[in-house]
Amino acid sequence: MKDRQQPKIFLEEKIYSDKQKRNPIGYIKLVQYLTGEAIPHVEYKLDEDHHGKGIMSKEFPKYLKLCKKYEFTRLIANVKADNVPSIRILEKNGFLKFGTISDDSLIYITDLKLTDSVRAFHKHVLSNVNFCLRT
Ligand SMILES: CC(C)(COP(=O)(O)OP(=O)(O)OC[C@H]1O[C@@H](n2cnc3c(N)ncnc32)[C@H](O)[C@@H]1OP(=O)(O)O)[C@@H](O)C(=O)NCCC(=O)NCCS
Repeated sequence: MKDRQQPKIFLEEKIYSDKQKRNPIGYIKLVQYLTGEAIPHVEYKLDEDHHGKGIMSKEFPKYLKLCKKYEFTRLIANVKADNVPSIRILEKNGFLKFGTISDDSLIYITDLKLTDSVRAFHKHVLSNVNFCLRT
């Protein structure tokens, strides 16, 4: 019997604390929820004792290059509105705030194929319109 709750996982990259890659401390992955939209969600996490050391700032752009290489170019991320470090990671890597999905959750999107000028235009449009996807 198929488990409808199991998302498909693409391109899971583990993050290690050591060059020998013995100690995984986090991951970045693309997840596609079978019941949701076809665009993959990017999910990322580090163990708590490795937060705030610049690790994700370094790893995330490398991961996006990998996504582009494998032609996963349109990505979504859900983030809690108070998750400042996560929002910084998304915004400094070109994700744009698309709207809200609940009182405390934001949705960010990117298209890695966009040129900087098209991205700037999208940013302008999105920052002037607040989309509310679900109430
Ligand atoms: C979100 C997460 C991946 C960020 O990774 P990280 O390696 O700790 O982040 P970095 O140290 O690279 O910092 C990223 C940015 O956030 C800022 N930041 C880090 N910790 C912060 C804090 N506690 N408060 C405010 N800003 C913070 C950094 O200054 C940096 O911004 P800058 O580039 O403008 O200087 C990590 O905190 C985590 O795994 N959290 C739990 C899981 C999670 O929230 N995942 C995301 C779900 S959407």
